[in-house]
Amino acid sequence: MEKYYITTAIDYVNGAPHIGHAYEKILTDIIARHYTQRCDDVYFLTGTDEHGIKIQKTAAAQGITPKELCDMNSQKFKSAWKALDIDYTKFIRTTDEDHEKIVQKIFDKLLKQGDIYKHSYEGLYCQGCECFLNPKDLTEDGLCPDHLKKPEVVKEENYFFRLTKYKDTLIKYIKEHPGFIVPEFRANEVLNQLEDIQDISVSRAKSNVQWGIDVLSDSEQSIYVWIDALSNYITALGFDTETPCETFKKYWPADVHVIGKDILKFHSIYWPAFLMALNLPLPKHIFAHGWITIDESKMSKSLGNVISPTSVLESFNLEYPDAFRYYMASSAPCGRDGNYSDDDFKEKVNAHLANSMGNLLNRTLSMLVKYFDGEVKPEFKGENPLAKKALGSVQIVKNHFDNFEIAEASLEIISLVDAANKYVQDNAPWTLAKEGKMTECGQVLTNVLDIMCIICALIYPYCPNIAADMTRQLSFNLKTKLDDLTADNIKCGKLISKEDIKPVFLRVDSELADKSVKK
Ligand code: MSP
Repeated sequence: MEKYYITTAIDYVNGAPHIGHAYEKILTDIIARHYTQRCDDVYFLTGTDEHGIKIQKTAAAQGITPKELCDMNSQKFKSAWKALDIDYTKFIRTTDEDHEKIVQKIFDKLLKQGDIYKHSYEGLYCQGCECFLNPKDLTEDGLCPDHLKKPEVVKEENYFFRLTKYKDTLIKYIKEHPGFIVPEFRANEVLNQLEDIQDISVSRAKSNVQWGIDVLSDSEQSIYVWIDALSNYITALGFDTETPCETFKKYWPADVHVIGKDILKFHSIYWPAFLMALNLPLPKHIFAHGWITIDESKMSKSLGNVISPTSVLESFNLEYPDAFRYYMASSAPCGRDGNYSDDDFKEKVNAHLANSMGNLLNRTLSMLVKYFDGEVKPEFKGENPLAKKALGSVQIVKNHFDNFEIAEASLEIISLVDAANKYVQDNAPWTLAKEGKMTECGQVLTNVLDIMCIICALIYPYCPNIAADMTRQLSFNLKTKLDDLTADNIKCGKLISKEDIKPVFLRVDSELADKSVKK
């Protein structure tokens, strides 16, 4: 694998980030970090989607300009991702000048080659979705099924993209590429939607929507959000309709677009059709994750249950975002909905990260210091009964990541931690020491520490700070590629002194959390 190009959806900036947005960025960051353990060149793109009627109206309601709203809220997303250790390569804003220029050129090219045409149209527009809805998709009461709001009737002369021209090629492509849409059960939904697809509006009248990129050849029209937003995946790399630059040639096509299930249609129908029209290769995978609910309810402003990711870190007084990252990433199987609850968060991270993983390292190192002054002797090295399970887990985790099964991979890691804990329990090194069987005792401890290095490498994408703390105590090189991992990681000699042993994860304090909830 030479390169890995991964992207997230770009978030609307009409509000601040919530844990649903965070879920996606965490999943993507974990996938990106996992692939840095397999390939030298990972490019991770995220950003904000800043044009459209929704942003125009929110700004007006707050008495500020759209640009002021975008600057303020885009910064909130950046700060949140910093707090969560989202290690992106580039943060794109659709108001970036170079993005706007290329979008205009893309639109112009499609217009000139006849893929875009002007057409008078009356349709039902949902501002929440920023798109026209098909009347047959509305609820019985005539509401948008996602936003439960009545769409407005819009009659305009707009530019349209000839989506119907690409219908058959798209159907064939999806059928012939089973891994294109992940999870696979969503491909059928997309194929159904494709059955009655129409040409789509790709511009809005300037008289109705001022906050958008101008159509180059028509000052009365602004480019409609989806063609603007989706193009970010190529403009960020420096795509140009004339001479695409080296970065673009190197990274395109994307290895995966990570998005929510609600915007799958735009990514698996509109975007591939735009790319076909531009004569560009299609992304390798579109991974549609599920939605995060709060205490099993949909997150919404009206229910007052919107949670910001940084407030979780603050209310649990977390030094690192690792526990939150771990919890979110393991909250739902691939593509399914997940749930956040304070109680479940406490229970899960205390059980997995503190009791199982953290304690295992702490106990093992403490015994090494107690019985051997922290030294690993050559006679402690030998056949490791945990090696087969551990190296098998590395392969299983890799396979899970290739299928975007991030929660499933975390379960495999915890099963390895459990196996190591059971091995300690079964072999009771404290009893061996009491009985004077010191070599056997040292072997058990060394076997566990060797496996702890593998656990550390596997948990790193989820918990980069905890992994760094673990590597310091194990003198392990976290840059080791997954394929180079062996079961022989601990060097002989003095490994650690008593004062250097530190718990890598302290139990989440329930009192603190309870207080914050009452606040
Ligand atoms: N701007 C568009 C995406 C354009 S991509 C070229 C958009 N923005 S959004 O802010 O509404 O959503 C951004 C991402 O966050 C989407 O992938 C969406 O599915 C995801 N989520 C928004 N709320 C969510 C949850 N409650 N749970 C999980 N993900 C959620 O759509």
